Amino acid sequence: MKGVGALFALLLTSVVQAKYIVPGGRWQDTEGNLVNAHAGCIYFDKESEKFWLYGEYKIEGQEEGGGVSVYSSDDLGTWEPHGLALEPVEGHPYISTEHIIQRPKVVYSEESGQYHMWWHADNSTYGWLLQGFATSDTPAGPYEFVDAVAPLGNWSQDFGLFTDRKDGRSYALYSNGDSVEGRDVYLSSFNENVTALDEVVHRFDKFDLEAPTIIQTDQSYWALMSHKTGYRPNNVVGFRADKLEGPWSQPFIVSPLNTRTFNSQSGFSIRIDGTKKTTYLYVGDQWDSNSLWESRYIWLPVDINERKKTLEVQWHDIYDLNVKTGEWRGIKGKTYTTKSAKTAGNAFKQEANFATTGEIITGIYGNDSTVTFEGIEGTGKPQWVSFYYQNTDDMGFGDQPGGTPDRIGGAWQLRRISSVVVNGDTENVETLFQRDTHKGIILSTPLQLTLEKGTRNTITVGGLDNGWDFKGADLDRIVVYPPE
Ligand SMILES: *[C@@H]1O[C@H](CO)[C@@H](O)[C@H](O)[C@H]1NC(C)=O
Ligand SMILES: *[C@@H]1O[C@H](CO)[C@@H](O)[C@H](O)[C@H]1NC(C)=O
Ligand SMILES: *[C@@H]1O[C@H](CO)[C@@H](O)[C@H](O)[C@H]1NC(C)=O
Ligand SMILES: *[C@@H]1O[C@H](CO)[C@@H](O)[C@H](O)[C@H]1NC(C)=O
Repeated sequence: MKGVGALFALLLTSVVQAKYIVPGGRWQDTEGNLVNAHAGCIYFDKESEKFWLYGEYKIEGQEEGGGVSVYSSDDLGTWEPHGLALEPVEGHPYISTEHIIQRPKVVYSEESGQYHMWWHADNSTYGWLLQGFATSDTPAGPYEFVDAVAPLGNWSQDFGLFTDRKDGRSYALYSNGDSVEGRDVYLSSFNENVTALDEVVHRFDKFDLEAPTIIQTDQSYWALMSHKTGYRPNNVVGFRADKLEGPWSQPFIVSPLNTRTFNSQSGFSIRIDGTKKTTYLYVGDQWDSNSLWESRYIWLPVDINERKKTLEVQWHDIYDLNVKTGEWRGIKGKTYTTKSAKTAGNAFKQEANFATTGEIITGIYGNDSTVTFEGIEGTGKPQWVSFYYQNTDDMGFGDQPGGTPDRIGGAWQLRRISSVVVNGDTENVETLFQRDTHKGIILSTPLQLTLEKGTRNTITVGGLDNGWDFKGADLDRIVVYPPE
């Protein structure tokens, strides 16, 4: 019996092995559904010793007012669903499906012995700008609605919550709307039981930013927020201070210019106090305004240099994080460039001095104009493959005055969709979403594919309908990663 137990324990450890974190991938929960928790927060609960993820629940046809979903995890990669933590109530004055229930944050209140949820509560035209409050005895909920209030009499749009590890005090971060009188981001302290706000600690005046979060290092506070460009991502900025009340630094851009923070918006961050290392993660959203319910998550390690007073969000296609030790490592993959690619139809290789080989593959259109990468090594198990691309459909968003397709009566396409076929198996077409980029900016989107064991695999990329057209994005290279 003892032997069986030991074997079982061994099997169990290999099963519960931590999963990789894959920014921008289709994340599935333990039941095989898409992780559906947008613009939310992660709360580590000491009692259950689990990470709890809360976020906006969005499905096709119900993009707002869907309530707040909740998931739990031991490793930040494997997510078990627990349904809705805050369920919309028909006819309710603040939390019906007709209302805005956005950017939920949860914190435990020692004083009340309950979990407190706060969020941006609004009517469908964003005319109220309130903060909603609900409580629960357990992290998973259900949370019971308490109130929706105007914070210290002001307006509150995008909502963030930060707890200072030095004294346990929690703070609300909120942009106060788009009106001329607004356009500030407030940092206000909660009372000790986290039932109401006490006082304004700092105001980030007139920067017109939103989606705020704070990272606390041993020496500094780093506030991150995005510009206001709706669901279009932009260059997120950071501010640094020694104390929450300031003085705060000038804003600075936290990721390589024009990557638009790797096509994501800020909103949350998490500090992992490991036994060997303290790691900070940027927890952002990659909105898909053409189908909000398919929006993805961009969680990335943050590199902080206290001496130089710099903070950088760093891209990794895939990384392995050990939440116990705090250590993480980027996973190495095998790169296949345009040199191992054959074009067909109207697809062709074009000079591009910013591309890996000095040329990029363009003209991928419909099913006939394709590119096929050959000689790809596989393992027979599901593997993540990152497709590095450029998609300039944005018409120069942010660079050209107006820079918008509506200028010529067009619509925001925002993403192209490519078909991806392994070893010519057209019965199984994978859809690769490729968000728009600045010109000359190469970003990547991961897809999980199963390649045959050996080195003779092919991956063929064509164009699929994105609602307007059948174009695939321009391809620079693909990188194939080892299985988890
Ligand atoms: C939302 O609230 C504002 C302010 O009270 C009001 O002007 C607006 O009509 C409301 N929108 C809806 C859809 O009721
Ligand atoms: C909110 O604060 C701004 C300044 O940040 C002020 O101009 C405005 O009047 C305040 N609004 C309310 C409703 O108190
Ligand atoms: C929370 O604290 C405030 C004072 O800071 C007090 O007025 C209120 O009754 C407390 N609420 C709860 C639920 O303990
Ligand atoms: C391409 O092929 C897919 C599936 O094989 C099909 O659904 C789609 O309509 C085709 N598109 C074009 C433009 O032929």
